[in-house]
Amino acid sequence: MSTSLTEKPNQKLDKTQRKDLWWLEPLVYFVGLNCFIVYATWAAFQGKNYEWGPYLSPFYSPLIAVKWWHFSPAFLILWIPAGFRITCYYYRKAYYRSFFMDPPACAVSEGCQSRKYDGETKFPLIFQNIHRYFLIGATVLLCFLWHDVIKALNFNGQLGVGVGTIVLFVNTLLLTMYSLTCHSFRHLIGGHLDSFKCGYHYKIYEKVSCANEHHMFWAWTSLFMVGFADFYVRMLAMGAWTDIRLL
Ligand code: FES
Repeated sequence: MSTSLTEKPNQKLDKTQRKDLWWLEPLVYFVGLNCFIVYATWAAFQGKNYEWGPYLSPFYSPLIAVKWWHFSPAFLILWIPAGFRITCYYYRKAYYRSFFMDPPACAVSEGCQSRKYDGETKFPLIFQNIHRYFLIGATVLLCFLWHDVIKALNFNGQLGVGVGTIVLFVNTLLLTMYSLTCHSFRHLIGGHLDSFKCGYHYKIYEKVSCANEHHMFWAWTSLFMVGFADFYVRMLAMGAWTDIRLL
C-alpha cells in the first residue's frame, strides 16, 4: 500500500530490511560520547590538578582567574568547545542516531507514525545554526592552545621537550585539523561563492573540501586526545605519573 510523503507507515522502531550490523555504529557513538561526557564533566568539576610544570590542561586553557567566579575555571572556557561540538554537523548525525534514534541508521525505521519532519528550522534545533559563531570562538581558543604548546617547551627557563610537550602538541594539532575540516570553515573559505576570482583561491577551496571529507576522523581523534591531554596533566599533577624529558 502506498503512503503519501507526509504520512508515515505504521512501523516499529528499528524495523529494517538491512542484514548488516547497522546498530554497531550508533552503539559505538553512544558509548564513546558518553565516556567523554562523563570524564570531561568530572574533570571540569575538579577545579584542581590541571597544571604541572610548563603544562596546562586544555580543559582549563586559557586559565581565567577572576574573583567573582567561585566555581571551577574550566566552566568559563568549556562552553565554547562544547557548543562547537554539539552544533557540529558531523556530531549532529552521530548523536541524533545514537541518543535519539532519529533515525537509528540509514534505511532503519525511527518508529514514528505521525511526527512531522521540520529539519532544523524550529526551536530548539534552530539553534544548531549558530555553529559558525562557535567556530570563531574555537579558533580563538586554538590560539591559546598553541601558546600553551610553546610554553610547554620552557622548563624553568631552559628549552626542553617532555612527553607532555608532545601530548599537548598532538592534541592542539588534532584540534586544529578538526576546525580546518569544519563544514562552516569550508563555507567561509569559498563554499558560499558561485565562482572564484582566481585559480589559487579555488585550489585552496579544493584542498579544504578534500580535507572536509575526513572530518569524522578528526572529530573522534581530537575528542579522544583532548581528554587524554587533560588526563596526562592531571596524572602528573597528582604525582601518579612522571613526565619523561626527551630533550
Ligand atoms: S562541522 Fe564539525 S566542527 Fe564544524
